[in-house]
Amino acid sequence: MPIAVALDGPAGAGKSTIAKRAAKALDFIYVDTGALYRTIGLAASRKGVEPVPSPEVEQLLKEITVDLTFNEKGEQIVLLNGEDVSGLIRTPEASMTASKISAVPAVREFLLELQRSMARTHNVIMDGRDIGTVVLPDAQVKIFLTAAPEARAGRRYKELIEKGMDVKYEDILKDVIERDSNDANRAIAPLKPAADSILVDTTELDFEQSVDKIITVIKENI
Ligand code: DC
Repeated sequence: MPIAVALDGPAGAGKSTIAKRAAKALDFIYVDTGALYRTIGLAASRKGVEPVPSPEVEQLLKEITVDLTFNEKGEQIVLLNGEDVSGLIRTPEASMTASKISAVPAVREFLLELQRSMARTHNVIMDGRDIGTVVLPDAQVKIFLTAAPEARAGRRYKELIEKGMDVKYEDILKDVIERDSNDANRAIAPLKPAADSILVDTTELDFEQSVDKIITVIKENI
């Protein structure tokens, strides 16, 4: 049976960059499940469908296909009706729409099997919010990665500025806090550590230290 590492935690804790490096070091596949919610959000925005529970969202889910594939560098590509939308889903607007639409039960149900199928066929580090609690409750290793909101907002701010985006730290911090609250307080699959997860706080760790810590925790538990 392939090995599954469930990596959950709030937005901006560094999950994706840390997990990508750890996956490479361990020769696992890195699966970014947030990209799937972002893609459904993008599909809704394009059709002018509000990201709230409604017959319109359910209809939208019947009309779209979402697939995951990997390029030659092993990077995840997400396809919406066959179109590579991996770049288009990385904006602050797409983050907020994803956070809202991820609270729609039909959306979570729609993405469940796709996520599980990745873990049936590959050794994975799967990054999300409910991987250890809902998607892969039998994962061999469950990690809950977190950091203080200010540290997370600071990192995201730097990332977006480096990409040439015109953003303000205060707006990012507000977004982080709002998304934390959306993600933690929704009725379905809220963001919370699985009972058997290992907590890793990266507030005081730099990137390399965080990667080392995650690799150590994984090796100790598989
Ligand atoms: O990890 P991210 O920022 O790309 O995720 C985008 C949104 O999707 C985030 O606000 C919460 C939601 N999400 C979720 O509900 N469950 C997951 N497994 C992954 C992401």
